[in-house]
Amino acid sequence: MQKNNKIAFLGTGYVGLVAGTCFADKGNEVNCIDIDKDRIEILKSGKIPFHEPGLQEMMIRNMQKGRLTFSTLDEAKLEQYNVIFISVGTPNDSYGKTDLGKVYDAINYIKENVKTSKIIIIRSTVPTGTCSAIQSIVDEDNDINHIVCSNPEFTKEGDAVNDFLNPDRVVVGIPKGKEIKAFFYNLYMPFISKEKILFMSNESSELTKYSSNAFLATRISFINDIARIAEKLNANIEEVSNAVGMDPRIGPHFIRAGIGYGGSCFPKDALSLVNQANEVGESINVLEGAIKTNNYQILYFLDRVNKYFQKNNFKKKVTLFGLSFKPNTDDVRESRGVMLYNLLKKEDFSIRCYDPMNLKFISKPIPYYQNIEDSLEGSAALIISVEDEQYKNLNFKALKENGIKAIFDGRNLLKDMTEELEGIDYFSVG
Ligand code: UGA
Repeated sequence: MQKNNKIAFLGTGYVGLVAGTCFADKGNEVNCIDIDKDRIEILKSGKIPFHEPGLQEMMIRNMQKGRLTFSTLDEAKLEQYNVIFISVGTPNDSYGKTDLGKVYDAINYIKENVKTSKIIIIRSTVPTGTCSAIQSIVDEDNDINHIVCSNPEFTKEGDAVNDFLNPDRVVVGIPKGKEIKAFFYNLYMPFISKEKILFMSNESSELTKYSSNAFLATRISFINDIARIAEKLNANIEEVSNAVGMDPRIGPHFIRAGIGYGGSCFPKDALSLVNQANEVGESINVLEGAIKTNNYQILYFLDRVNKYFQKNNFKKKVTLFGLSFKPNTDDVRESRGVMLYNLLKKEDFSIRCYDPMNLKFISKPIPYYQNIEDSLEGSAALIISVEDEQYKNLNFKALKENGIKAIFDGRNLLKDMTEELEGIDYFSVG
């Protein structure tokens, strides 16, 4: 029978909040903790500071049952929990070097304030070797036996709750000689069968996380390279990727061509892995190429827009659909839409944007409409930067009447709709 744990999460971003809520839903007592007072106030009032389908309902249900609480670090009494998850942010600099400041702040806090042995689980994405380094730091106190484990995140934004409840595998790194498997079986068997809980060294677990994201990013860049060739050779990338993906050794996922990958994970983790390799005197040529392709793909697309406007001498007025980095999220980090906006601005385009979400801009907000009609006013072309299925239901006749001469489809969403698109110049990727 499952033994319920008392779990503290340090860090209430996507990672901590989704995992914490899902653990509470399975009967554990969970406290999600943050140093940001305002954020904790929002959470205590039953709201979440970002969009994640299904999360708020589950959160409120578990708050009402008394299994899920929120507190600032000052209020939280960490001593009472048997497990402490670290789920703080780990950004990179532009060379891919990870800033572990927040992770070490959390560890130092634990070192100073927690005097009984805990299971400390690093859920933040950290470079290979970090958990072992943390174990050495906490081992400096001889009479406390914290065990530091790695347990990376594999959920996707926009589908994170479902991914957490139904994982493909659970990866757990454990330090040598520590008997901790029974604890993880108990924690995760409400979500997944025993044989899919994979135990390994902390280093293997950390590297698994980076390799998974880097591999997926590489697949996307590979198909994007092929897409550009397909265009020149008169092939159709959708037909090619569909056929290639039917080989079970390859599979159909993450080979959708477009203007490249964005988000808070792929760009950051791919760069970090290249940096980690360089630091040990190795290189990952394939991944370096994938990053190069991803940077190029958007310029290639922009060039197409530019050439079209030059050739036709239209007024440089466009509408951009999609500023989030993918559908069903309000996250604009490393978003291709935002990048396109900035690039188009530099080329003196006047741009009206549309996005259905209440977007969370980190620094400079971009003005946008939440109404499609308003966003289209006066534009000569429409640019699609996100694979949002709703764009398939556009009224193309009305688009034409409104003066839209061309659609630049950065996600190949409308590629099959030749009949509806008649009379509009249509450009896809590949
Ligand atoms: C990604 C991984 O998919 C998760 O497994 C991982 O847990 C997460 O990072 C993380 O490290 O936390 P996420 O960043 O939410 O998840 O987004 P994805 O759904 O993977 O999409 C990433 C980007 O790739 C998007 O810009 C999307 O448009 C693009 N993409 C995806 C393509 O261009 N082509 C595809 O075929 C698939």
